[in-house]
Amino acid sequence: MPYSNVIVIDHPVVQTKLTELRDKSADHRTFRTLLNQIASLMVYEVTRDWPSEPRMIDTPLEKMEGRKLSRRVTLVPILRAGLGMSDGVLRMLPDARLGHLGVYRDEKTLEPVSYYQKLPPDIAQTEVLLIDPMLATGGSGSAAVSVLKKAGVKSMRFVCLVAAPEGIKTLHDHHPEVVIYCASIDRQLNEKGYILPGLGDAGDRIFGT
Ligand code: PRP
Ligand code: URA
Repeated sequence: MPYSNVIVIDHPVVQTKLTELRDKSADHRTFRTLLNQIASLMVYEVTRDWPSEPRMIDTPLEKMEGRKLSRRVTLVPILRAGLGMSDGVLRMLPDARLGHLGVYRDEKTLEPVSYYQKLPPDIAQTEVLLIDPMLATGGSGSAAVSVLKKAGVKSMRFVCLVAAPEGIKTLHDHHPEVVIYCASIDRQLNEKGYILPGLGDAGDRIFGT
């Protein structure tokens, strides 16, 4: 089923790494490495249509007009698992500021619980990438987008690794304008809210907990 405002990055290198990472034999060191590598690769597509403007420079031979990004960038990982993608994104966008949103989902109710928030004061004037490897029920992602909107953010993209159809629906029911970038739309959630086939608990696999 086609989704609007969802972009699946189906590049063969991304898909190869995603498959290695999903494999339960990947230990936390391998998992972390692959997750950051995929995050770096995804930046290329996620930022493709960002505005840029002319910038004059002197090459060793002559003046030329090059280009630079027009807007500053803020990266907002949803703790904890979003941290597993931060370094990969920052490698490509080293000037970005970093905000942090702590949200976990209650294991019984699956409802999001916000526990931490620290955002750059001028976040409203920047391009924001909200990152979290998993979009499952969509509760955490929707809550995080609401916090960013309250902080005045106008332009944001949600970048995840694996999205469930249920999570896409919830996020877009609440925030239809937010474009979701992912490497895969998986089949469904199980009765405990885990994505199938998925990759298990992303935070536990990143941090070895
Ligand atoms: C995971 C994941 C997302 C959330 C997705 O976090 O990193 O934030 O679940 O689920 P949802 O779409 O149903 O809300 P988790 O609650 O396991 O916390 P953690 O990152 O601290 O491990
Ligand atoms: N959070 C995860 O880490 N994995 C899932 O499958 C669902 C939510």
